[in-house]
Amino acid sequence: MIKFRGIAEYVMSSPLPAALKENIPHIIDKLNSDILRKGAKNPQDAAKIVAYKIKDNILEFTIESGAVVRLHHATLRIKNFLAPLLGKDYRIGIRTIKIRNPEILIDQKLRFSTSLPLIREIIVTDNSTIIKLNDLDESIIKRPIIDRLLKLIETKEKKAKWGGKVEHWRLIKRSKEKEPKFFEDPNEIIEKIGWIKRFAPGQWLYTPPITHLIRRFEQLFINIVLKPLGFVEVIFPKIVPLRIGVKTGHLKGTPHQMMFASQPLSYNIEDFDEWIDLVSVTEEAPPEELKRFLKDPSYFLCFAQCEPFYWFFEGEIIDREKLPMRWYDKSGPSFRWESGGLRGLERLVEFHRIEITWIGEPDQVIEIRNQLLERYEYFMDKVLDLEWRWAWVTPFYLVHAGEIEEEEAEIDINRPGTIDFEAWLPYKGPKEDHHTWLEIGNISIHGAKYAEPFRIKHQLRDKIIWTGCSGFGVERWFIAFLAQKGFDPDNWPKIVRERITRPPLSVQLVTYPHTKEGKEILDEIEKLLDKLPVE
Ligand code: SER
Ligand code: ZN
Repeated sequence: MIKFRGIAEYVMSSPLPAALKENIPHIIDKLNSDILRKGAKNPQDAAKIVAYKIKDNILEFTIESGAVVRLHHATLRIKNFLAPLLGKDYRIGIRTIKIRNPEILIDQKLRFSTSLPLIREIIVTDNSTIIKLNDLDESIIKRPIIDRLLKLIETKEKKAKWGGKVEHWRLIKRSKEKEPKFFEDPNEIIEKIGWIKRFAPGQWLYTPPITHLIRRFEQLFINIVLKPLGFVEVIFPKIVPLRIGVKTGHLKGTPHQMMFASQPLSYNIEDFDEWIDLVSVTEEAPPEELKRFLKDPSYFLCFAQCEPFYWFFEGEIIDREKLPMRWYDKSGPSFRWESGGLRGLERLVEFHRIEITWIGEPDQVIEIRNQLLERYEYFMDKVLDLEWRWAWVTPFYLVHAGEIEEEEAEIDINRPGTIDFEAWLPYKGPKEDHHTWLEIGNISIHGAKYAEPFRIKHQLRDKIIWTGCSGFGVERWFIAFLAQKGFDPDNWPKIVRERITRPPLSVQLVTYPHTKEGKEILDEIEKLLDKLPVE
């Protein structure tokens, strides 16, 4: 629970006359019983003047308040109530207002950065936190910064209650059981046969045959799922200015998973003389030295891939007949720092995704999501013949913004939220074990989660804009297919076998693939691929 305490100070244009001084207790009664109660169902949530003082032309109210009519709201309400009254009856104006010694009292132990703006001191005991703020003048009282601070407190309270992270997962649909054709780990095989080579942790170079297969896979998805629904291709930028990550919420929710980029310190090569000397002589590039030649990071590398979509419509008013709009982007990679959790093509730092985005009126956004779901199901079930399941999960946009949603008793998939698509990986073990399933994509209705901060407006004032997005994780869909079907096209479903053509020959060098075993498996796979139609 949150409470506030502080002294609201009103500086008048002249000293308070005796008649007004006498009237102050009545004014306080009116304020406490009416003005400062409005909007709070529970009196605990309202504000109350508990003491007052008059010094020449200064009127001071000591206010205690709850979480609804907050100290700073109460201060403004009092001003709005007093101003006409004092003007009319006493010809006095209110010059300035200020809150002295404002405090936020929380009945649990929370940790805060002491470098937050406005904060003077934080006193933490086992079961309470007192945040003492700097004195607030009118311009700060009117800005939403205090409300944002309170939102941060609420988020921290929820996290403390739910242990930092709540992940909901509820099965909503699953495929029939399908006979797996393969039980080995395709990640290991494609590395052994040299189709991929590790470039850096979580990054791979994809050689011609696997690139060919992945591209055909993407094309199959585009032709079967996206084109029939009228989605058109766009190219989104892949490094994102920080400002946009503030609006999407990523910079407060997932800074620990994001990669950042900096501009060089200057455009003059002479400014790099020292650096050039260092690299020339040592043949090394020490990052701590490089840092001196860079500006502070001002971008993050593409993370959700749909960030530029919301930015495009920022501040725009959209004609009713132009809605809905359906776009997809597959123009470049996304980056997610996974620390130690990397694995083959399943968990990557640099990965590829077809990001599908749409915007419209709420009904249109829901309808498009439903049409996509239908096509996704057809693609998973009939085209790739996968064993799959769908789950209603914590919305990705809340996870990415570091927000927490409490579990609801009933789920209604036609409201904002996220559905994860998962595929079973037989090599990992029995399907009853939760860990043997891989999330290969997701689909979301965001509601106004992005339309609001980006101020995207409908032409008609009474209508609102919603957005939706879906990520098709290219590597993950491909690895899930190989994990269930293997490398022999005889075990692939008909459409895949017909539409995916013979890849170019694999790279074979004196020293590559690196092992004898790898070379032998590669020879077998090359023969199997001969079964595919030639392009
Ligand atoms: N943008 C969504 C996500 O990051 C879908 O790709 O999960
Ligand atoms: Zn997205």
